Amino acid sequence: MNNAQDIDAATILSMAKRRGILWPAYEIYGGLAGFFDYGPLGTRLRENIFNIWRRYFVFGERCAEITTPDVTPENVFIASGHVEEFEDHMVQCSKCSAAFRADHLLADVDPDVDADNLDLAGLEQALNELNIVCPDCHGSLSSPKPVNLMFETEIGLGNSRHGYLRPETAQGIFINFQNLYRYFREKLPFGAAQIGRCYRNEISPRQGMVRLREMTLAELEYFFNPKDERFEKVGRVLDDSLVLVLRPGTELQLTVAEALEKNVINSEIMAYFVGLTQRFLIEVGLDKNKLRFRKHQPTEMAHYAKECWDAEALTSFGWLELVGIANRSAYDLSAHIKASGQELSAFIPYDEPIERKVPTVKIDMKALGPLFKTDAGRIKAALESLPIDQLKDQENIKVSVDGQEFDVPNNCFTIKMEHEKITGERIIPNVIEPSFGMDRITYTLLEHSYVEVEPPADVETETDDSAEEGSAAKYRVLTFNPYVAPISVGVFPLMPKDGLDKMAQEINAVLQKNNIRTYHDESGSIGRRYARMDEVGTPYCVTVDYESKDDQSVTIRDRDSHSQVRVKIDELVVVLDKLILEKPL
Ligand code: GLY
Repeated sequence: MNNAQDIDAATILSMAKRRGILWPAYEIYGGLAGFFDYGPLGTRLRENIFNIWRRYFVFGERCAEITTPDVTPENVFIASGHVEEFEDHMVQCSKCSAAFRADHLLADVDPDVDADNLDLAGLEQALNELNIVCPDCHGSLSSPKPVNLMFETEIGLGNSRHGYLRPETAQGIFINFQNLYRYFREKLPFGAAQIGRCYRNEISPRQGMVRLREMTLAELEYFFNPKDERFEKVGRVLDDSLVLVLRPGTELQLTVAEALEKNVINSEIMAYFVGLTQRFLIEVGLDKNKLRFRKHQPTEMAHYAKECWDAEALTSFGWLELVGIANRSAYDLSAHIKASGQELSAFIPYDEPIERKVPTVKIDMKALGPLFKTDAGRIKAALESLPIDQLKDQENIKVSVDGQEFDVPNNCFTIKMEHEKITGERIIPNVIEPSFGMDRITYTLLEHSYVEVEPPADVETETDDSAEEGSAAKYRVLTFNPYVAPISVGVFPLMPKDGLDKMAQEINAVLQKNNIRTYHDESGSIGRRYARMDEVGTPYCVTVDYESKDDQSVTIRDRDSHSQVRVKIDELVVVLDKLILEKPL
């Protein structure tokens, strides 16, 4: 059973807090909306998801991961358009001063209003027509106004520079294009990935983990030649089935191949990243039946995007955007070329060099020198830089050098046709960007994995401290894949005495030395220890019992089947490694 709709965020957050997965940040000072701490198990869980992401989007894909600063000088975000465009529309209560996103207020009252298609005047009209007041105190609301969502900062003291905390990791990649191009031996395509903290000063983040002011994005900027329409790797995902939403209320079920044939997805490279994204989300442990890809309407697209598909998951918040896969075309590189004056382009060699005849100006210094003496050299350079058309069929050519005008007679030069070999051309690469909200993915994994099961016979549930007050009968476990689970193996002595405790400690140390993530527990009954491990999704528990002393073997218990096998202690590392890495999905 999967339960994305029969569970609510409060249940998930309560379990996550109790088990050291997620904690509301700054709680002892009253908390701060839009910020969360990851506890010991949450930090591990995220790291495991990061590593799966690296496996899909970095390793083996002519991609490399880089790390660039969070604090960014203003000129980067002026160039990228974020200073001008990265904004939402805010309304404020005249009575209690609370601020709200205008589009969210409209959607709460009338989900059919298409706020993305409304300009400022349209938003104001819709708010008035629906008589929307402050949801907190019913005070009247101001007119909507655009507000920039970036956190501002001053970099340095004294002669400081204005800056921002980055709202996406992508710009750190674009401005390193030359370094990356060199690293990839000056050949397209290649990708640069970054996993990092990003900051967005959300107007009114009231949805816990799904609207954060500080979040982690995992982004890949994949640079390619837009003239290459074929993208061979798409072959790997052609048979994968996708649920696609082109317009609100319409769902299509197509394979990647069919989506390409019908031009629903219009490039092989976009289709590849849509397919790969779905595979990644399923491997992390999200329910395939609760995933879909929604195409952005032109009016809702980010300022840099030409086409965008969101991977969405069904959660207790409804359909939630987890990933945006955007075609950023040459938007960002062009913007940084313009603002920095740097050459952020790639050289594309032709299959065969093109030979052609080109008109070229030849200066006759014997005629030019005596006429212009010390100015002759500069006049020569100026003539050579003029378009050939301006030199043709004229008796005298006017040349301007450092603000001085010269009349040059046409016997000072000739125009000749010369052979030229062109080996290729410079282009500004295009970019496809899959951008993953790692906090939302982690949260959705908790919702999709926290399932109610029959309590197994070997656990103690009545007194188990995982039970919510008033819901003691519910037995829920996190059904994490073994390589996603924050703890891979619980290690227990049957009784914390008679030498079993020492043996369990020694086994735990050996497993840890072999990079197996364990949790050693001696407290309470064995049934309660199994229950605690089940709830946090630990796939295996190793128990040292009285037989272990005689035959140097232990039991391995499986979280899902509750079955146990006996294994020799000196084979334990190999057996567990195999179980953790190879358990079929
Ligand atoms: N880089 C994607 C985003 O800012 O959402």
